[in-house]
Amino acid sequence: MRSGRLNAPARFAASLVPRSLSLRLVLLFTVSTTLVFLLLGASLRHSLRTELTQRDIEELHGKVSVVVHHFEDIRTADDLERSVARFADIGVGHARVQIGLVWQGRWILAPSEPVMRIVATFGVARFERQDVLEYLGPGGRRWWLLSIPHRLEGGGGAVHAVLALDVTDATDVQEHFQTTLWLSGLAGILLMAALAWWTARQGLSPLNRIAAEAERVTAQRLGHALSIDDVPTELRGLVASINRMLDRLGESFRSLEQFSADIAHELRTPVNSLLLQAQVTLSRERSLDEYRETLHGSLEELERLNRMVADMLFIARAERDMTSIVREPVALRREVEEVVEYFEPLGAERGQAITIDGEATVRGDRPMIRRAITNLLSNALRYAPPGAPVTVRIGRSGAEVMLAVENRCEPIPEGELERLFDRFVRGGGKPGGEGTGLGLAIVRSIMALHGGTARARALAHGVAFELRWPDGPDAEKMTEM
Ligand SMILES: Nc1ncnc2c1ncn2[C@@H]1O[C@H](COP(=O)(O)OP(=O)(O)O)[C@@H](O)[C@H]1O
Ligand SMILES: [Mg+2]
Repeated sequence: MRSGRLNAPARFAASLVPRSLSLRLVLLFTVSTTLVFLLLGASLRHSLRTELTQRDIEELHGKVSVVVHHFEDIRTADDLERSVARFADIGVGHARVQIGLVWQGRWILAPSEPVMRIVATFGVARFERQDVLEYLGPGGRRWWLLSIPHRLEGGGGAVHAVLALDVTDATDVQEHFQTTLWLSGLAGILLMAALAWWTARQGLSPLNRIAAEAERVTAQRLGHALSIDDVPTELRGLVASINRMLDRLGESFRSLEQFSADIAHELRTPVNSLLLQAQVTLSRERSLDEYRETLHGSLEELERLNRMVADMLFIARAERDMTSIVREPVALRREVEEVVEYFEPLGAERGQAITIDGEATVRGDRPMIRRAITNLLSNALRYAPPGAPVTVRIGRSGAEVMLAVENRCEPIPEGELERLFDRFVRGGGKPGGEGTGLGLAIVRSIMALHGGTARARALAHGVAFELRWPDGPDAEKMTEM
C-alpha cells in the first residue's frame, strides 16, 4: 500500500502496525491470548456464580420446607408457644441461617441483631414467601430474607417465620475468584507475550541468516548463490528468487565487463597506430605533402573510431532500454527501396543486382528500422562476391512479419552463425578492415527493442539474415514466404 493513497484514519491505523515482524507477531499473539483469557474468565465467573447461587437457593428452600412442615402442626397460639424451640433448632449448626418468629408485632423467637434491624426497617410483610429480599446489612454482610406467614385458629392472628441466609461468603468467594482470575490472567498474558517474543525471534532467525549471507554478496561474488538447504520451506521461494536475481545480475555484470574489455581491446589497435603514425611523422622534418598524407591516413582511422564509438553508444543505450522507441506504421518495401537507391552506385560498381520481393508493414521506429536494413544491405554488398545478386524478401511467416536479406558467400559453419551477432565479431579473416564488427550487434539490439528477433540462416551457397517482428495490426500480408 502506498501511504499517499490512504486517507487520514487509515494512515493512522497503518502507523499503529509495528514495522518489526517480531513485534507484529507478539502483538497478534498477545491480543489473541488476551481474548481467550477474557472469554475463559467470563465463562468461569458465570458458572461459579450460578453454582454458588444455586447452592444458596437450595439451602433456603430446604429451610422453607422445614418451616412449612412445622407450621402444619401448629393450629393455635398454644401450639405456637410449645413449638418455638423446634423452630430455634432449624438454625442450630447452620452458621449462615438465622430464624425468627414474629407474632402480634413482636419477636417470640429472635434472630441475630442485624436481621432484626433489617426486618424492622421493612416490616415483616415486605418479603413474604416467593419474594426473596437481598439486602446489604450492617458490617458489609449480605443477606437473603424470606418470611413465611401462618394463620392461627381462634383469632390468634398471623405468625411470620423469618428466614435469613447470610450469602456474604458466596460474594466473597466470587470476588476473590475474580481477583485471582485477573492477576493470573495478567501474568499469563505477560508470560505469553514473552514466549511469543522468544518464539518469533527463533522462528525468524533464518531471515537473519539469509541477511548475513546476502551481506557477503559482492560484485565479484555475484555468482555465489545463497544456500537453500537449511532454509525453511516458507522462505525457499524467496531465496530462490533472490538467487535467480543474483544470476541475472551476474550475467549482466559479466556482459558489462566483457563489453568494457572488448572496447579497450578494439580501441587499442587504432589508437596505437595513430600514435605510431604521429611519432614517425614528427621524428624528422617533412614536406607539406607528407604531412597532408599522414593527416589523411589519420582522418580515415579517426572516422572509423568515431563510427565505432557512436555504434557502441547506440548499443549501450539500447541495452539499457534508454532509447525510447516510437511506434509508427513502417512500410518495409519503401524503406528497402530507399536504402537500395543509396547503395545503387556501389552495387553497380561491383556488378551486384539487388532484387526486392514482397511487401509488409510493421509498427516501429522508422529510423531504427532503416538503420537495421542499411546494416544488412551494406554487409550483403560487401561480403558477397562481385557479380553475385542480392535478394531482399519481405512477407509473413506464421504470426510474424519477416524481412530477409540473402546473398551468396563462402559457406559459414552452422556454429558460427549465431556468433556473428556478437559485438566486435568480424568473420572472413578481415580484422581491422573498415567494419567495426558492431553492425549485426546493432541490428539485434534494434530488433530486441521492437520485441522481435534477428538471426542468420545458412543457404545452399550463401546466407540469409532474417528480421522478424511480431505481427501487429498494421502488418499487412502481401507475400507468403
Ligand atoms: N551478408 C553477409 N554475408 C556474409 N557474411 C556476412 C554477412 N553479413 C555479415 N557477415 C559476417 O559477419 C561479420 C559481422 O558483421 P557485422 O556485425 O556487420 O560487422 P562488420 O561488417 O563490421 O564486420 C562480418 O565481418 C562478416 O564476416
Ligand atoms: Mg557490417
